[in-house]
Amino acid sequence: MLSVRQADHEINPFFPERWSPRGYKQTPIDRDTLWSFFEAARWSPSAYNAQPWRFIYALKGTAHWESLFKTLSPDNQLWAAHTSALVLVLSKKTFTPPGKDRAVDIPSHSFDTGAACAHLTLQASLKGWHTRAIGGYDHSLVRDSLHIPEDYHLEVIIAIGQQGSKDHLPESLQAREQPTLRRSTVTFVAEGAFSFKE
Ligand SMILES: Cc1cc2nc3c(=O)[nH]c(=O)nc-3n(C[C@H](O)[C@H](O)[C@H](O)COP(=O)(O)O)c2cc1C
Repeated sequence: MLSVRQADHEINPFFPERWSPRGYKQTPIDRDTLWSFFEAARWSPSAYNAQPWRFIYALKGTAHWESLFKTLSPDNQLWAAHTSALVLVLSKKTFTPPGKDRAVDIPSHSFDTGAACAHLTLQASLKGWHTRAIGGYDHSLVRDSLHIPEDYHLEVIIAIGQQGSKDHLPESLQAREQPTLRRSTVTFVAEGAFSFKE
C-alpha cells in the first residue's frame, strides 16, 4: 500500500511510512507505551527552550475519554470511536525567562508545539501505532469542560490507536483509507529567491 509513497531523495523510510488511517482496532494502549510517545515530544526544540507544549490524554473506556470524545465533530466521532487514546494538545502562549519576573510572549508557541507533535507521531509510528490529528472539535466546549486557562492555545486532538479494519467506516471514508500523496519537493523549496507558483 505504501508503494504510492516513494521518496525522491534518500531518507529514512519511517518518514513516508507514517500515515494517518481512520480504521482502528480498539486495542487498549498501556500507559508506558503512551508515555514513551510524550517522551519523544519532550526532546523537540523550541524558542527559548520554553517547551510550550502541553498534552492532556484520555484512555478509551474512562470518564476522561467521554469528556474529550463528545467534543469531536460527528464526522470525526465516526472513526475516532475505535481508537485507544485521545490527546488534547495545548500550547502555552507566554514564558517567564529564567531570572526574570515578567512573562514574555512566545510568538512560536504553535510552531514549537507542532514540532513536538511530529516527534510524538513519529515515535508512535516507529512502535507500530498510528495517529490522526483532529482539528474538527468544539474548541469552546473543550476549554470550558476541561477548564483550560486563556493563556493556553488549543491546538489539535490527536487520536492514537492500532490500525484495524475499515469495514465499520462509511463507504466514503473506506474509499479514502489509504496513504495520501505529497507535492514534489521542487514545489516548496527554492534556492535564494521566492519562486513559488502558489
Ligand atoms: C492540524 C490538523 C488538523 C487535522 N484535522 C483533521 C480532522 O479534523 N479530521 C480528520 O479526519 N483528519 C484531520 N487531520 C488529518 C489530515 O487530514 C492528514 O494528516 C493529512 O491528510 C495527511 O495525511 P497523512 O497524515 O496520512 O500523511 C488533521 C491534520 C492536522 C495536521
